[in-house]
Amino acid sequence: MPFTVPSPLEAEIAALISQYPVKRSAALMLLHALQEHFGYLSSDAIQWTATKLGLQPINIYELVTFYPMFRQQPIGKFHLKVCRTLSCALGGSHRLHGFLCDKLGLDPHAHGAQTSKDGHVTVEFVECLASCGTAPVLMCNDVLHEGVTEQQAAEILGRCRG
Ligand code: FES
Repeated sequence: MPFTVPSPLEAEIAALISQYPVKRSAALMLLHALQEHFGYLSSDAIQWTATKLGLQPINIYELVTFYPMFRQQPIGKFHLKVCRTLSCALGGSHRLHGFLCDKLGLDPHAHGAQTSKDGHVTVEFVECLASCGTAPVLMCNDVLHEGVTEQQAAEILGRCRG
């Protein structure tokens, strides 16, 4: 099926582009809008963005691969981001990540985001979430959880599974 952007999103994107004196400056905002709508940035979305901004796909691809908030694969409805930077690593984030992977049947040693077989929950290591004093820290979608114990992690997972 060809990649299509629904009219309301296309209008939103046109409005975003109009706010910049140079079209290419809107690239990050477009990518955020597309990812929010589609859940990730496919190669078609990258191509579409490049065309929209009069750029080459590589110009967009380099943004997508540079910034860790952009995804090239679909993720689960619940995205658990476990901080692995120094304070959290010392505070037990690797054990916490392993606990979550174990509960979800995922490989604790795999690189990158992994999604449970039911497609519901994605677990991923990320870098500092700016709450170093309350390690270990994780985010479930946009909600920050601090000083997370295994019991709290199990409760968060329980809420994800409804
Ligand atoms: S090191 Fe984990 S929040 Fe900063």
